[in-house]
This record gives sequence, structure tokens and C-alpha cells, in this order.
Amino acid sequence: MAIEKIMVIGAGQMGTGIAQVCAQAGYLCVIHDITVEQVERGISSIEKNLLRQVSKGKLSEQEKATIVNRISASTNLEDSVECQLIIEAAVENMEVKKSIFRQLSELTKEGTILATNTSSLPITELASVTSCPEKVIGMHFMNPVPVMRLVEIIRGLATSVETYEAIKEITLKLGKVPVEVNDFPGFISNRILMPMINEAIFALYEGVATKEAIDEIMKLGMNHPMGPLTLADFIGLDTCLYIMETLHDGFGDDKYRPCPLLRKYVNAGWLGKKTGKGFYLYE
Ligand code: CAA
Ligand code: NAD
Repeated sequence: MAIEKIMVIGAGQMGTGIAQVCAQAGYLCVIHDITVEQVERGISSIEKNLLRQVSKGKLSEQEKATIVNRISASTNLEDSVECQLIIEAAVENMEVKKSIFRQLSELTKEGTILATNTSSLPITELASVTSCPEKVIGMHFMNPVPVMRLVEIIRGLATSVETYEAIKEITLKLGKVPVEVNDFPGFISNRILMPMINEAIFALYEGVATKEAIDEIMKLGMNHPMGPLTLADFIGLDTCLYIMETLHDGFGDDKYRPCPLLRKYVNAGWLGKKTGKGFYLYE
């Protein structure tokens, strides 16, 4: 099935980035969230991003308008029937994702690919709630999507070769580099990244150093573009906690135990940059 129209589910930071790069690559794109306000906020963040490119002379006003015109809004999952590819980027919660995939399995046309941008959750388990597990695949973009070149591609047990090849081809069309990994908790990216972030939070929790010192050490000492606590705020502390819980549950090893300070911040609603407060304050 030729892919012309893509639905992106979840108009948060990842969904809007994914919709933007899809529209920039020439695909029609429907962006879906629970409320009209969330979808509108997502679309206006895409417009702001594109405007920045216009002001830098990297995009013309006309090109910006063409890209924006390829994007439409939806709060109804039934709109997925018009799409050949769905990329789910809703919150990192298995029950929420299963509910979405159950509905998509009923609503989409036969042959539609159901991809998920999950950071850590098992693709095989998610696929099991659908009637088309061969069409379900992990398509894990990195944040910020318009900038980061990697897409980690994860096949579930039943994912077909055709589905994998189609996703690999689209990833290349989006100007990204696909890298395949097997379906294990956290895949490769977050199995390695998130324990480092969790360890940085433990170091703060134990009073080994200030947050600024921890970040400065990792930035200057390891040449990381962002310190781990800044990066945690950037990713979203709720997402970091969900990923650590998936690693902890999935491997049953104490080395993946989420730091109590991370849990405390999430319980307080301090989710990082997206809520204006995490380890740092944001305007
Ligand atoms: N959205 C879109 N574009 C953005 C952006 C955003 N949020 N933030 C920055 N950019 C663009 C800028 O417009 C600029 O583009 P041009 O080169 O075209 O002008 C470019 O990125 C560089 O931006 P800046 O000069 O303002 O800032 P910077 O040099 O400090 O780079 C950064 C910003 C790219 C975010 C950099 O700090 C970085 O690479 N940080 C680490 C990001 C990272 O590790 N991501 C992975 C997170 S983990 C993950 O995604 C997986 C998961 O499941 C949790
Ligand atoms: P976010 O909190 O910014 O956005 C999540 C969006 O999903 C919200 O707008 C929310 O309203 C929406 N949503 C929740 N339930 C929904 C439902 N039932 N139907 C439709 N929309 C729903 O989160 P995010 O950072 O964009 O992360 C989204 C997904 O991408 C998660 O699975 C996360 O693990 C993954 N991811 C995140 C990052 C990151 O750095 N933040 C990187 C890669 C992958």
C-alpha cells in the first residue's frame, strides 16, 4: 500500500515533531489528540518551529505555507481510516497505548501500518491486542525530532519483513537514519541512556554534587550537548520514570530501580520543561 497520508497520535513534543518532519517530507499528515486545544497547541508549535526556519532563511514563506497546509487536525480516531500509516506518540503508558491500538485495529483499512514511538514498551505485547500484529512496529524517533537523525526501528515477534522494509524506506525519506534493534525493554537507546540519567538523579539525591555541577561535569567532561538533569527535564520526568519502570519490571534487576527523587518530582507534577518546572525552572 503506497503511503500518502499519515496519522500521528499525540500532539505533544514528539507527535508535533514527527508530524512536522512528515509534512516537510511531502506527506499529508493528520495530527490527533484528545482535545481540540491540545491539537491546536501542537500545530501552533509546528508553525513556530517553521517560522524560526523562515527567519533563518532556511525556508521560504511559501514553503512554510505548503508544509502547514499538509497538516490537518483530528480528535476522532476514526479519521485513521484515510491513512496508510499511523504513528502513535501518546503518553508512555502501556494501557493507554493498548487502548489506542485496539481501536486502530478495528478502524483502519487492511494493510495500514501501525507504528509506535514508544521509548521502551514491548512492541510484541502491544501488537498482541490487534488483529494485525504483522503490521505493528516500533518507530522510535529522538527528541527534538526535526534535529535528531536517528530512528530506532523495533520489530515485534510477528512484524513482517514488508512492514519493516516500508518503515525503513519512510525513515530514509524523512532524512533520518534507521537502525534496527530487537524487542527488549528500553531497546538500545533507553537501556543505555536512561540508567545514566537515573544515576545522575541518584547522585543529586545523595548530595554528591549540585544539579549544576552534575550537568557541568557531564557536559564539559564527556562532551554531552546537555547535562543529564537538563536532558531529563527536556525529555519529560514522567517519561523518564515510565521508562525506568519498564526497565525495572522487564529485567527485574535492582540496577534499574527508579530514583525516589524522580518519583517524587513526578508525583508533584514537576515534569520538566513541558510543565515549566523540573530540576530547573523554565519560563
Ligand atoms: N525543535 C526543533 N528544532 C530545534 C529544537 C527543538 N526543540 N531545539 C533546537 N532546535 C534546532 C535549532 O533551531 C537549530 O537549528 P539550525 O541549526 O537549523 O539553526 C539547532 O537545533 C541547534 O539549536 P541551538 O543552536 O539553539 O541549540 P544547541 O546547539 O544547544 O542544540 C539540541 C540543541 C539539538 C537540543 C542539543 O542540545 C542536543 O543535541 N541535546 C541533546 C538531545 C538528546 O540527547 N536527545 C535525545 C533525547 S532521548 C530520546 O529522544 C529518546 C527517548 O525515548 C527519551
Ligand atoms: P507529551 O507528554 O509531550 O505528549 C503526549 C501527548 O499524548 C499529550 O498531548 C497527550 O494529550 C496525548 N495523549 C495522551 N493520551 C492520549 C490518547 N489516548 N489519545 C491521543 N492522545 C493522547 O509526551 P512526548 O514526550 O511527546 O512522548 C510521547 C511518546 O513518545 C511517549 O511514548 C514517549 O515515551 C515517546 N518518546 C518521548 C521522547 C522524549 O524525549 N520526550 C523521545 C522519544 C520517544
